[in-house]
Amino acid sequence: MSRAIRFVPVVLMIAVAVPAFGQIIPGDPGSYPSISVVNTAHNLNNYPGVTIPGNQVCLPCHTPHNALLAGEDNVLWNHGETGETFVMYSSTANQPEGPSKMCLSCHDGVTAIDNYGGNSGSIVMTGDAALGTDLSDDHPIGVEYPTSAPADYNAPASFSPGIGGGTGVQLVTISGIERVECTSCHHVHNNGLGNFLRVPIQESYLCLQCHIK
Ligand code: HEC
Ligand code: HEC
Ligand code: HEC
Ligand code: HEC
Repeated sequence: MSRAIRFVPVVLMIAVAVPAFGQIIPGDPGSYPSISVVNTAHNLNNYPGVTIPGNQVCLPCHTPHNALLAGEDNVLWNHGETGETFVMYSSTANQPEGPSKMCLSCHDGVTAIDNYGGNSGSIVMTGDAALGTDLSDDHPIGVEYPTSAPADYNAPASFSPGIGGGTGVQLVTISGIERVECTSCHHVHNNGLGNFLRVPIQESYLCLQCHIK
């Protein structure tokens, strides 16, 4: 039998398998792909001009010792913090704190991406991912989640699991208040769903975790 003939069924199998593979089904975490931070835009070695010593992916954001923040929320932070004052969505929104401030320490388009480990750095983010300092045209952050408005918002206990069955959409407790922050929708370490989202955007599944519409 020739090699060419034996090859045919394999090609057919692949052709049949392709449409199903990789299909994201909102509400079925088993269908959510997982992509490690190593293979994402958050491996800052991938940003033009940035080189991390020894390919240490975690280093621009974390350090095992002498972190910049102390206490429970320090997450061993190693990146220079943004010093900008932001224009917020509404007057009830707080200036970025906690994880949102960490995100904006690169995504403000002002603080250098390679400002970490005590070096001030020089490579500043440009393009769409640089949200800038005017957040009034972005989804609100730094706002309290209105658990007291059950007609408009789902109870947090009903939020569905995310990638790998881990935490999906979440609220972030700051100063004892449950808030919407960048990490409510984004998972900084995993880009399986694209845009580092915690649950699929397909069918607006992400939005409908919180909003009853
Ligand atoms: C681009 C910045 C960035 C990179 C790179 C990064 N992290 Fe993080 N990490 C964060 C931020 C921001 C938080 C806090 C917000 C949160 O928990 O989502 C965090 C939180 C954490 C936490 C505590 C919360 C949790 O998710 O368990 C751990 C552990 C962690 N990171 C480990 C790592 C490791 C290990 C690496 C490298 C393989 C890494 N991170 C790479 C930004 C980063
Ligand atoms: C140390 C710098 C740094 C920090 C901290 C950081 N990012 Fe990023 N992020 C980047 C860079 C660099 C890119 C790639 C931008 C580009 O390609 O133009 C990026 C890209 C992204 C993207 C787009 C991904 C895509 O697929 O196009 C999202 C979404 C994002 N970041 C969200 C966050 C959130 C949310 C946080 C905080 C939890 C955060 N980032 C913290 C540097 C950072
Ligand atoms: C309510 C959910 C939600 C919150 C809160 C949120 N994002 Fe996003 N973000 C999204 C969605 C959905 C997308 C993908 C759709 C899009 O590009 O507009 C996105 C896209 C992005 C991108 C890629 C933009 C681009 O065009 O390349 C970046 C960077 C980003 N977010 C950073 C942040 C940062 C930083 C914060 C906090 C200041 C934040 N996000 C808060 C839902 C959210
Ligand atoms: C983690 C929960 C959460 C998620 C996920 C979420 N939202 Fe929101 N959203 C809120 C909260 C809370 C507010 C109200 C903020 C305020 O007014 O203080 C809000 C406000 C809004 C507003 C403005 C309403 C107004 O009266 O000004 C719009 C529009 C909106 N969200 C759309 C979306 C869309 C579209 C998505 C998906 C891409 C989304 N939201 C995802 C919690 C969420």
